[in-house]
Amino acid sequence: MSACLCLAFLLFSVVVADATYIPRRSHHLLSSRQNRKTSKSNTELPSHFETRYFPQNLDHFSFQPESYQVFHQKYLINSRFWRKDGPIFVYTGNEGDIEWFASNTGFMLDIAPKFKALLVFIEHRFYGESKPHKLANTLGFLNSQQALADYAILIRSLKQNLTSEASPVIVFGGSYGGMLAAWFRLKYPHIAIGALASSAPILNFDNIVPSSSFYDTVSQDFKEVSVNCFEVIKRSWGEMEVFSTIKDGLQELSKMFRTCKTLHSVDSASGWLETAFIETAMVNYPTPANFMAPLPAYPVGQMCKIMDELPLEASNLERAFAAASLYYNYSGSVTCFDMENHTDSHGLNGWGWQACTEMVMPMSCSNQTMFRPFESDDEKANQEYCLREYGVKPRPNWITTEFGGQRIEMVLKRFGSNIIFSNGLQDPWSGGGVLKNISSSIIALVTRKGAHHTDLRAATKDDPEWLKQQRRQEVAIIEKWISEYYNDLEQEEQAK
Ligand SMILES: *[C@@H]1O[C@H](CO)[C@@H](O)[C@H](O)[C@H]1NC(C)=O
Ligand SMILES: *[C@@H]1O[C@H](CO)[C@@H](O)[C@H](O)[C@H]1NC(C)=O
Ligand SMILES: *[C@@H]1O[C@H](CO)[C@@H](O)[C@H](O)[C@H]1NC(C)=O
Ligand SMILES: *[C@@H]1O[C@H](CO)[C@@H](O)[C@H](O)[C@H]1NC(C)=O
Ligand SMILES: *[C@@H]1O[C@H](CO)[C@@H](O)[C@H](O)[C@H]1NC(C)=O
Repeated sequence: MSACLCLAFLLFSVVVADATYIPRRSHHLLSSRQNRKTSKSNTELPSHFETRYFPQNLDHFSFQPESYQVFHQKYLINSRFWRKDGPIFVYTGNEGDIEWFASNTGFMLDIAPKFKALLVFIEHRFYGESKPHKLANTLGFLNSQQALADYAILIRSLKQNLTSEASPVIVFGGSYGGMLAAWFRLKYPHIAIGALASSAPILNFDNIVPSSSFYDTVSQDFKEVSVNCFEVIKRSWGEMEVFSTIKDGLQELSKMFRTCKTLHSVDSASGWLETAFIETAMVNYPTPANFMAPLPAYPVGQMCKIMDELPLEASNLERAFAAASLYYNYSGSVTCFDMENHTDSHGLNGWGWQACTEMVMPMSCSNQTMFRPFESDDEKANQEYCLREYGVKPRPNWITTEFGGQRIEMVLKRFGSNIIFSNGLQDPWSGGGVLKNISSSIIALVTRKGAHHTDLRAATKDDPEWLKQQRRQEVAIIEKWISEYYNDLEQEEQAK
């Protein structure tokens, strides 16, 4: 268990795992849950959105005849609140179906009436429906720079079609989409006047932040609720290992874990538990939500409560299992757990490719966490995996070369403006986020109780004060950007 791998999972990813070496991160973070996530119940098109398709060149950066291949990029548009020349709010899509992001980014819809804004959600190339017809030999065109160029071209075309070229554009994004929003503002300041980058771990590259921060944060989330809860989980792995040494251990474990089929290895059950704890930490939202899975408010606390309520004689492993069941069976409708099915229903693993090329985010796990420790230095195994799976070699320094990251405060203090980096410290990805104010307009909004892009979710009547306050601050900052923009525009007109 020493392989770091840098196949970091942001929102989700799908790695079909029949190779002998499986990057640990992707192995236990992704799962067949991906199928559920993109299931219709969770990804319905919010009302008043219209679906459109825009032809894009597959390759924006060279002028070879074959670069002019076209794919159709899906985007969602809502003009219900829009007033001509008013602002355009664009969500820079990340790794998945755009409906999923639209339905989990209610914040934009909530604030659109106030701003009389047009809402646009653009799907990322090679995800959802926005795939080229021929996938063979085209994966090379799946990268963040091409995606940013897609957004730039689509926005320009849209403004032209609306004859609304003066409309200010603000880009929004969460997670990888948040990275894209921030990078878009830095690369295309002539197209977007500002960016709200929520839970964007742009410093998780090139060891700018410690590779251990992800697992440290998950563990801290549980410890914060109860030290006992942390200890129970920490001790459960050893109890699990025992099943691999005893006769009929796998049958017994399968029974205890109510699996649909007898397990082939103890590792599947460990991975299943780890995924539950990690993903629950990511979505440790203050109100009930259905992002990765349907869950109650503050689900980490609920998990710990379940553990505490078991009878005295329950083992640590039984407690950990009962807690994880909250994540997989909150609805109460699951009859058995399918722990070894990593079916990739889409046939294309876009995030796996991106993680093997540019999105190289080192991960390690220290012995201070509640997980089994592993180190992050297995670059060779990573390379072999990527070569075998995709025929490519990862470029761990590419993102920081292309977009920066090292000494970001010093660099952006005198370059760039109008970016909000928002992070919730419950979020395992927050360690890779920008957590300090950089300048008067590159602002870090940090909430102690926030999780993975909590602020982008739709407001609910039960939202706590800190969340309302954070969103009010975001709205005020965006208002300021927009009014400055209109002032500048007016002055420019007068000077003519
Ligand atoms: C703008 O209009 C042109 C011509 O009808 C169309 O081809 C293009 O797809 C439109 N752009 C967008 C972003 O929808
Ligand atoms: C899911 O929850 C329901 C209701 O609590 C329970 O009856 C069922 O056994 C659970 N499923 C599994 C696989 O544990
Ligand atoms: C894996 O899951 C998929 C989708 O849930 C299902 O259709 C398929 O039958 C499962 N495969 C196995 C081997 O259980
Ligand atoms: C935990 O890790 C540290 C640093 O790698 C090491 O010095 C220490 O011995 C480890 N502790 C245990 C109990 O393994
Ligand atoms: C950044 O500045 C804003 C005020 O502009 C403040 O509300 C916020 O707390 C600051 N962020 C941090 C991380 O100190």
